[in-house]
Amino acid sequence: MKNKTLLLLFLTISLNAFAQKFDGLAETPPMGWNSWNTFATDINEQLVKDIADKFVELGLRDAGYEYIVLDDGWMAMERDENGNLVPHPEKFPNGMKAVADYVHSKGLKFGLYGDAGTKTCAGYPGNRGYEFQDARKYAEWGIDFLKYDWCSTGKQNAEASYTTMRDALYKAGRPVVLSICEWGDNQPWTWAQDIGHLWRVTGDIINCWDCEVGHGTWSSWGIWPIINMRGNIRKAAGPGQWNDYDMMEVGNDFTDAENRSHFAMWSMLTSPLIMGNDLRTASKETLKTLTNKEVIAVNQDKLGIPALRFSNAGDFEIWVKPLADGEWAMTFVNMADAPRNLDFDWQKHEIGDDLNNRRLDLKNGKFNIRDLYNHKDLGDTSKNLKATIGSHDVLMVRLRK
Ligand code: GAL
Repeated sequence: MKNKTLLLLFLTISLNAFAQKFDGLAETPPMGWNSWNTFATDINEQLVKDIADKFVELGLRDAGYEYIVLDDGWMAMERDENGNLVPHPEKFPNGMKAVADYVHSKGLKFGLYGDAGTKTCAGYPGNRGYEFQDARKYAEWGIDFLKYDWCSTGKQNAEASYTTMRDALYKAGRPVVLSICEWGDNQPWTWAQDIGHLWRVTGDIINCWDCEVGHGTWSSWGIWPIINMRGNIRKAAGPGQWNDYDMMEVGNDFTDAENRSHFAMWSMLTSPLIMGNDLRTASKETLKTLTNKEVIAVNQDKLGIPALRFSNAGDFEIWVKPLADGEWAMTFVNMADAPRNLDFDWQKHEIGDDLNNRRLDLKNGKFNIRDLYNHKDLGDTSKNLKATIGSHDVLMVRLRK
């Protein structure tokens, strides 16, 4: 009897130990590309292959981009007679394993989209009730990333629903990054750290600087509303767990200046850097922004501390981000419609991050200032920092000892 009880106890403990997210998959914010912002459900095998080729050809892979993720619309409208998810037969005539194999052959990783409810947002089959079966299918196909949406979920509990998929993925045995997408409705930054590797913090992004576009029951948001929508979520993020400000709209009808600001801010906020533009037609300037290794290094800094807003006065925002080894990143954003002259006196400002107990210590020596978009040194903090910043543009710098 005693032995039986011990055995049961052991089984319970080991089953619980089994239920966890895959560790070590997102020590820095994930980087990649997702089909939704540009293609919606108009996706197919050739598109994935083209994007994978572009990752290599355009130096995106070398810059750190890794995941190619198919969003909603990759499935057939019905499961098969055994309840399996089926890739859309015309869009993916060779199945998903062939697509994943191609992506893997380029040294990249492959992701798919699912939904915790009964239907995806575009009306395809949801994962509800099929989580373990679907997770096995993903593993069989070679999926490395799952974006998991929240449409048609009725009264489902978010934490429980995402935990079920986490456990299903873990049980299937293939390491998968779990990207939680419930739009911040249930405050995932308060419960998702042990469940997913990233979680959306807002509703859908749209390619405007500062707008809200209503769709009846929900809205899409421009860059600045997204940046400012959530207070006090910095502490939730860090290695393995990231606030996701949504797939980027860099290259989607923004000015070059706005693209730079958007990319700078996603990097400062330690958001995942998931591109959402058509890489086959991207302009040189857009690619220059997306592959800027000095900016990416701020996003990928090993401390993983999100930026905080230091000031916003008179159409001018200043953001600061502590980096490893006592360095800092700073981004000055000109929100106005006209260029603006910056004259920043280091002696007059105390820069710090109380949450992480870090100060920019100017008393014990000066810092060199590196301009991350123009790739040049701008002197040091013993003199005022002077620059002209164009409308909706940024000056992004790194302060080094
Ligand atoms: C939304 C999600 C978008 C996209 C879309 C697909 O819920 O936020 O990023 O995945 O569904 O239908």
